[in-house]
Amino acid sequence: MRTVITFGTFDVFHVGHLNILQRAKSLGDRLIVGVSSDALNFRKKNRYPVYTQQERLSIIQGIKHVDAVFIEESLEQKAEYIKMYSADVLVMGNDWQGKFDYLSPLVNVVYLERTPSISTTSVIEVIKRT
Ligand code: CTP
Repeated sequence: MRTVITFGTFDVFHVGHLNILQRAKSLGDRLIVGVSSDALNFRKKNRYPVYTQQERLSIIQGIKHVDAVFIEESLEQKAEYIKMYSADVLVMGNDWQGKFDYLSPLVNVVYLERTPSISTTSVIEVIKRT
C-alpha cells in the first residue's frame, strides 16, 4: 500500500486543483489531503479563504481521487503529518519547488507542474470584474 499525501488551501475549487489531486493519486494507492485551516491562511496571506475550512474539507473529501482528509494547522507540522499517515510520497505543486526537499529523508518528495493559467486568485479576480 503506497500512500501519497498532499497539502493546500483548495479555496474556490477549480480544475487545477482537480488535476493535481488526480495526478497525486496516480502515484500511489491511497491519497491523503491536508486542507489548510482558515487560521493558517490568515497567517500566510492576511485574508481568510472565501470558503470555510469545513466547506473546503467537505469538497476535497467528495473528490473521487481522495481517500482521506484532515485540517493542516501549521506549515511546520508537515513531518508529523507524514509520519501520522505513514505517507510514502509527498506531492506539492511546483510553485513550491525545492521548499520541501528537507523532508526527503522521510518521504519521496515530488513536485508536479501546475495547470497553466488558472488559480483561485485569478478566478476571484474574474468574478470581481464581471
Ligand atoms: N495547483 C495546480 N495548478 C494550478 C493551481 C493550483 O496544480 N493552476 C495546485 C497547487 O500547486 C497546490 C494545490 O493545487 O499543490 C493547492 O493550491 P492552492 O494554493 O490552494 O491553489 P491556488 O489556485 O494556487 O490558490 P491561490 O491563487 O490562492 O494561490
